[in-house]
Amino acid sequence: MERANFGSKLGIVLASAGSAVGLGNIWRFPCEAGENGGAAFILIYILCVAFLGVPVMVCEFVIGRRSQANTGRAYSVLAPGTQWKWVGLNGVMAAFLILGYYGVVSGWTLGYMIASATGGLSGDMDYARFFYDFSGNSWQPVACMVAFITLTHVVVVRGVKEGIERFSKVMMPVLLLIVCVLAVCSFSMPGAAAGLDFLLRPDFGKVDAGVVVDAMGQAFFSMSVGMGCLSTYASYFSRDASLMRTAGGVAVIDTCVAVLAGIIIFPAVFSVSGIETDAGPGLVFVTLPNVFRLAFSSAPVAGQVFSLMFYVLLVLAALTSSISLHEVSTAYLHERFAMSRKKAATIVTVFCILTGTVCALSFGPLNGVRLGGLTIFDLFDFVTAKLMLPLGGMFIAIFTGWKLDRSVVRDELTGGGRLYVPFFNSFIFILKYVAPVAIASIFVNEILK
Ligand code: PFF
Repeated sequence: MERANFGSKLGIVLASAGSAVGLGNIWRFPCEAGENGGAAFILIYILCVAFLGVPVMVCEFVIGRRSQANTGRAYSVLAPGTQWKWVGLNGVMAAFLILGYYGVVSGWTLGYMIASATGGLSGDMDYARFFYDFSGNSWQPVACMVAFITLTHVVVVRGVKEGIERFSKVMMPVLLLIVCVLAVCSFSMPGAAAGLDFLLRPDFGKVDAGVVVDAMGQAFFSMSVGMGCLSTYASYFSRDASLMRTAGGVAVIDTCVAVLAGIIIFPAVFSVSGIETDAGPGLVFVTLPNVFRLAFSSAPVAGQVFSLMFYVLLVLAALTSSISLHEVSTAYLHERFAMSRKKAATIVTVFCILTGTVCALSFGPLNGVRLGGLTIFDLFDFVTAKLMLPLGGMFIAIFTGWKLDRSVVRDELTGGGRLYVPFFNSFIFILKYVAPVAIASIFVNEILK
């Protein structure tokens, strides 16, 4: 079977950045930064991105492109007959499970985008109640999740070049444009200075081991590393793409969007006095609609446009990420069982809708079902983002640092000797020692928490 490929280097960067830029940047990052010391958190986050996220991303690229296989098979190609195959299978499982609950929050963003477009989010209303009623409803969030996963399916089924690459090449520039427009608008609001101060003033008093661990976990999630998502994409990279540069480019785009999301959100929030600042997850679904209404009370149409643009941004970001999650399982089934791409994608979609439905209902009718005190949604989040992902990242670093032949790693990074790669030895040192120890600390911390 001939392997699919991305058609251009731009397509490679935009598809990978599409995977990285997602709800993690716009929904989770501003909350985390707001709660954990503003610029102090941002600084630690950037260190985690540079010294852990980028190296592990490069490993995924090496593994994917070298093996020319989906992540579920890549380790059997590079280390045949060993137990390393479980790292790949862990990735396939994690990506599948994440898609279930990611689809739920993405579905909410779709619901909010539609409500914003149809005027359902304007006027004097209790937004906390609205969110509570919407997310706890027994059919609306399920319908939104199904619609969202179906959109994802439509892109994935078209294939790597015609579906994923084409969609990323059109949507990523749109997404980046919306981010810039919203940041400029928010910047010019009356409370911009106070909002920026809240976000950018470093409060090192709030930094403790837990915050460092959070920053590390957030960096992994945001950069989509740890589950072979980018390794699957890299199996479609051309031989002449520079893996280091691509990883650097993706990291820069991902981090800029996260910081800009904070710059969009906090000045807007601070322009409206008397509003309770919820820096937690309610920020995007409760505080912000309120802000949009109050900040634009004299120009409601402008408020509606701002709000619509914001939710379109969220939907696009979520979609490019969910496509990459879907691709992990689709590529696995497609290649492992030699079935058509369409059949593989359909199976993944159907099963994701099933897991997504259970997760969506855990905010409503299934809220009472708890395991270890966690709702089903929280359990999915915990098991995947907090356990499977860091573990995956750790073993990916160990595999590349200790098991893969050094000449293979060098050959991939230099593109067969064509490219100059600075810091090669430091890179290997990070993979062998720094990353495993640092990631193991996230893991232990999460288990003990
Ligand atoms: N990076 C995405 C985000 O920030 O929302 C989430 C994600 C996508 C995580 C793909 C993992 C992944 F493999």
